[in-house]
Formats: sequence, structure tokens, C-alpha cells
Amino acid sequence: MRSFLGRDILSLQDFERHEYFRVFEVAALLEPYARDRRNGDLLKHKTLVTAFYQPSTRTRLATEAAMHRLGGHVTGFSDAKMTRAGDFYQESIQDTFKMLEYYGDVIAIRHFQQGAPAEAAEHVSVPIINCGDGWGEHPTQVITDLLTIYREKGTLDGLTWILIGDMRMRTMHSITYALSKFDVKAYVISPPEMSLTDEHKTRITDMGLRWEEKEHIDQVIGEADVIYMEPVVQPDYTKSREEVPDQKGLTPANYQVTRKLLFEKAKPDSIVLHSLPRQDELLPDVDKTRHQRYWVEAYNGVLSRMALLALILGAVE
Ligand code: CP
Repeated sequence: MRSFLGRDILSLQDFERHEYFRVFEVAALLEPYARDRRNGDLLKHKTLVTAFYQPSTRTRLATEAAMHRLGGHVTGFSDAKMTRAGDFYQESIQDTFKMLEYYGDVIAIRHFQQGAPAEAAEHVSVPIINCGDGWGEHPTQVITDLLTIYREKGTLDGLTWILIGDMRMRTMHSITYALSKFDVKAYVISPPEMSLTDEHKTRITDMGLRWEEKEHIDQVIGEADVIYMEPVVQPDYTKSREEVPDQKGLTPANYQVTRKLLFEKAKPDSIVLHSLPRQDELLPDVDKTRHQRYWVEAYNGVLSRMALLALILGAVE
């Protein structure tokens, strides 16, 4: 097996099936720190640097919480405007990361430019974790998603997925790469202007993913074991930040999951995942249904990042 030690986590295109299971094993090993809310000292000699050029609630804080749970140290920024990359100087990724590499042992980056984490990795000797790059990828979110399904279903094979929402989203790119490593079927549902690019369709087909486009969730919800959601009302992920507009659109029923729909048409044991934040595609009345697992992900997101940090920094083999 390829070692995780010192490895960049930039994309799930090259993440192998057995590597997901290794991350899940280590997550289970380290779970007592999170479950018992008692920080350990496994990474007490290590420092995580977080470089977030785009807003985040879950990804940055779960990664930082994971480092704290393992006794490590955390430094970094969550508002690039207060760094030289965000003022008069517009300091380049190359120059910024040549500094950051000496401030810690692993760097977690979120950026509005697709490919920024890969560019950063070219200039530093410490591992880089991609925490979301433009419309590109979001590997740690999807590792968390698969961990959640594995813990719930006991397998990642033999499942039917619905991927619904804006298919330009970085999570959607990473989840299609990840699912190509397993024996699954994926139904893809999005507005035409938010569909997968032809290039991406060819790539995932070549990678072995069985997938099919549908127009309305009504057509396939009865077959789904997992309903994986993103908004269709959302900001432009190539911008560093977007303020709330005067008027937001509403989500058409094709791309909406409601309590009524789940009750009337879904398999009783189907699971709804959403990387969050949400708009009206997923109303709060779904939260109290048996299908909801997106809040469990707040916990699993710490487990997955503890496992990745421990593996990358060599605290476990
Ligand atoms: N799931 C996710 O990426 O959430 P944040 O934008 O809050 O990090």
C-alpha cells in the first residue's frame, strides 16, 4: 500500500479503494478522543497551518478540531483579506506558501482558484490538504461522506446513489471519482446549465463509474440507498466571497428533497447526505426523519480529519 506519510491530499482521482478503508480503520482507532471529548497527545509535536481564502464553517473548524483532539497545534488565517495575499500586494500562492511551510508541518488550504492547492504543493516540502478549490474538488468532505455511509451501511458496494444539485460543485467532482472505486450505480440530477462537463463525464466513465442522468428526483428516489445533495441556489465558487443577493431564486421540485417525498417514495433505510450549508432544496422538516445523516457528519468530519492528519504526519503507519 502507498504510504500516507508526507502525502498531499489534493484529489480523489488517485485515491485507491483500500486507502479509504485504511482511513476508516484509523478513524475508528482514534474515535475515543472525539467520543469521550478528551484531547490526546499523539500529535503534540506537530502544527497544522490553515490557509483559508474562502469562507468555511465545517471544513476549517473540523480540521482544526481534529488537530486539537490529537494534541497538536494550530495556526493560520481564515480571512485572506488580512494577509498580504488580500491587500495591495496580492502576494502569490508561491510566495505565501514558501513562508507557510516553515510555520507548521501540514497545511490545509481552501481557495477560490481551482488548482491552487496543487500549485501550493509544488513550492513546499510539507504536505498540503485540499479543503476545496473553486469548482475543483473537496476530498476531505467526500472521505467524510464515505465514512458516514460505511458506518451506517457496513459497506460501500452494492449501493444506488442519487447525486442531486449543482454538478459543477467540487464535492460532486470528488464523489464521482470516489464512487468509481466501488460497485455502485449513480443517478445524476441537475439543471442542464449545472450539469457535469463532457470532459468529466468521459473521465468518470473511463474510471468505471456506472452513472445515468435523470431529470426529476421523482423518477429514481424509490431505488436510492443514498441521496447526496448540493444546492442549485448557490454562490459562484470561483469568487473569494459573495454577499447575499437582493433576491435568491427558489429550488425547482426536480432538485428538492422533502419530508413528504421521503415518506411517500423513498426506501425506508435510504440516507440523505448534504455537505451543507443548504438552501431550500432541503427543508428543516427532513432533519427529524429517519433518513437524515447530515448532522452525524459533523462528528464524522472530525474522525476523518483526525485519521488523515495522523496518517500524513506519521503518527500511525
Ligand atoms: N461542507 C463544507 O465544505 O462546508 P464549509 O463550506 O462550511 O466548510
